[in-house]
Amino acid sequence: DTLHRAPSGHLGPSYKPTEEQPSATISTQVKLANVTILPQTPQLIALLTMIRDERTNRADFIFYSNRINRLLVEEALNHLPVLASTITTPVGRTYAGVAFEGKICGVSIMRAGEAMEQALRECCRSVRIGKILIQRDEETSLPRLFYDKLPEDIGERWVLLLDPMLATGGSALMAVDVLRSRGVPEEHICFLNLIASPEGAANFAKKFPKVRIVTAFVDQGLNEKNYIVPGLGDFGDRFYTL
Ligand code: URA
Repeated sequence: DTLHRAPSGHLGPSYKPTEEQPSATISTQVKLANVTILPQTPQLIALLTMIRDERTNRADFIFYSNRINRLLVEEALNHLPVLASTITTPVGRTYAGVAFEGKICGVSIMRAGEAMEQALRECCRSVRIGKILIQRDEETSLPRLFYDKLPEDIGERWVLLLDPMLATGGSALMAVDVLRSRGVPEEHICFLNLIASPEGAANFAKKFPKVRIVTAFVDQGLNEKNYIVPGLGDFGDRFYTL
């Protein structure tokens, strides 16, 4: 991380003097043990700049958000257990490596979370993917579970829960409740998101301190409509319809 930026948020290659590196806003750091924020590299910040820009069209939004999703999946996989695995190379030498230990499963919170499935499939071929649909009840304005379809043996899997925007955390917390009711231990859940609010991350840490969160960026906060600011607007609209 320090290779890529000076403490003031200047970004650029380390061979460039700090005063020649542009300054950029990097993620708020949160003091929560279960939250991993991706390293704030020039590449990640450039990708985030693309998807936050209101002028970015839908094709570019899909392309660049998918690149960040790949980084999130690759980081999340680092949080799964591995076993020692020694193999022999074609030149007859051994190499002491590791292999993934458990079975995994993706669970996307519809509809925005489905946008992260491609990155998961690119990294984990033929991965099982379950779905959960949670929407705000018009009358009570509380999140309500409308639909779920999850693998029968989900209780024996490590779950990568997918939702790109962690605002108040209402839907994601309910999704974790559903997973726990199907036998998934809290510590076997890793929640992947692109942008989190400090409130959402704190709500999560309070209710489910053992659920790991892997996020690309923790933003400033929420506006009066509970949109993340500066954020990127409505993720689902930008990915699917705009
Ligand atoms: N969902 C979104 O799509 N955007 C936000 O800012 C918050 C929740």
